[in-house]
Amino acid sequence: MSATRVCALSDLEQDTPLKVDVDGVAIAVVLDSAGEVHAIGDTCTHGDISLSEGFVEGETLECWAHGSAFSLRTGKPLNLPAYEPVPVFAVQIDGDDVLIDPSLKKEV
Ligand code: FES
Repeated sequence: MSATRVCALSDLEQDTPLKVDVDGVAIAVVLDSAGEVHAIGDTCTHGDISLSEGFVEGETLECWAHGSAFSLRTGKPLNLPAYEPVPVFAVQIDGDDVLIDPSLKKEV
């Protein structure tokens, strides 16, 4: 599967996740404070909660429900109660386009 344009780079607000759907896969797209764009599975592994409704802090995205913070780079939770990682996806920036391939898990 090829990469799909999910939004414009200019659509992203720093530290404010944007929920997108790519072929049925819900993904949170995050522009971090260092200017890097991340794509991380949107569903918390502890419960059916959308991580894009959570809080970005540095390179983590925190679930609002019970506070597990997931690494934007690896998808791994850094604290309980979640203990399973969420997937992370490779992001391509092409001009002002943000592209994600949902079948491609980012190498970590
Ligand atoms: S649902 Fe996300 S930490 Fe509990």
